[in-house]
Amino acid sequence: MSKTLDQIVYPGSDQYAPEELTAPGTIPLELHGEPLIRAVDTAYILFQVPNLDRQQAFLQDFGLMTVESSDKTLYMRGYGRAPYIYEVCKGYTEKFLGVGFLVESEDALNSLANKLGETITNIEGPGGGKRLRLNDPDGFWVDLVVGREMVAPLDTRRDALPVNIPAKKTRINRGQRTALAPSAVERFGHYVLMVSDFERSWKWYRQHLGLLPTDVLCTGTGQPVLSFCRLDNGELPSDHHTLVLSGGPEAKYMHSAFETIDQDAIGQGQQFLKMKGWNHFWGLGRHILGSQIFDYWLDPHGFEVEHYADGDVFDNRHPTQYHLFDRGGLWAWGNDVPAAMKPKPTLKLIMMAMFGSRSQKKLLSGLGRAISYAPRPWLK
Ligand SMILES: [Fe+2]
Repeated sequence: MSKTLDQIVYPGSDQYAPEELTAPGTIPLELHGEPLIRAVDTAYILFQVPNLDRQQAFLQDFGLMTVESSDKTLYMRGYGRAPYIYEVCKGYTEKFLGVGFLVESEDALNSLANKLGETITNIEGPGGGKRLRLNDPDGFWVDLVVGREMVAPLDTRRDALPVNIPAKKTRINRGQRTALAPSAVERFGHYVLMVSDFERSWKWYRQHLGLLPTDVLCTGTGQPVLSFCRLDNGELPSDHHTLVLSGGPEAKYMHSAFETIDQDAIGQGQQFLKMKGWNHFWGLGRHILGSQIFDYWLDPHGFEVEHYADGDVFDNRHPTQYHLFDRGGLWAWGNDVPAAMKPKPTLKLIMMAMFGSRSQKKLLSGLGRAISYAPRPWLK
């Protein structure tokens, strides 16, 4: 049996009964055998929005660069080697469409396409390549990609800043001056989905991307309800999570996150975005699971996007850890989660609690209890 990580301690975490704290891990998340294929990196994220110009203006202030744009589609890159990491097409409504992943080999992709009876198509965007477009159980696209032509990274600061600590002063006769500028995004790091059936989605993503569960959150009865999933790159370390799957009353995009160099870049980037009048959402802070320094924004169409830096990485030997699901475990320091992130008793939720299936009712009651605790005793 797995046990809870003892470093997840925050003011208020002592409010749980011993049986609630020992329940996580009693129902393990199954790996469902060998996956059909393995993803090795993120490629891009895909959206549809009504106003491409406004989306582009925000994304440029957020730290992405335009690669190609037309009145139908916009391709944006980061400062890293990917030809683009963000594709958005014009449409009547705003919509999250899906995500592309680089997979281990073309042979593996061909064999999966044959097995599924699906067709591999050419990618039209910059860098080309081929993709197999799949639909996850909730209908979101998952593109399995090979053969993209990588590009030269763009010039930006990639070294740590010299930091003075009490016992060691390395920066002498000069100040710490970072530019007021967009926080240069290096790469597309991860995304978070609420899924309508957690078990079903976990099984699908495990089989089609080869994900490993890094940290799994459970209700007080031990039922897994959320998983931080990382890529399996063998002995090479992968980000703590590339995809987070969270069980819930509906399927929806929660947020996507873009890696930058460090806290100073994120802080100056926050100042820059505020100066431009965009909508700040949450941060700065540091997460507990994954440890990232984070800062969340709302794009002009209401999608949450995150800058992050200094996240944890794990290789494939790191065992899955199980924890109690609650709001307080989301962050180590920083402000409380914004009101918009707190669950509201919507009509849909109430109907589901009254008339939903047995498993839906069980999930809602477990989640309801988990999120009913005040995350910090001094916060309302
Ligand atoms: Fe995130």
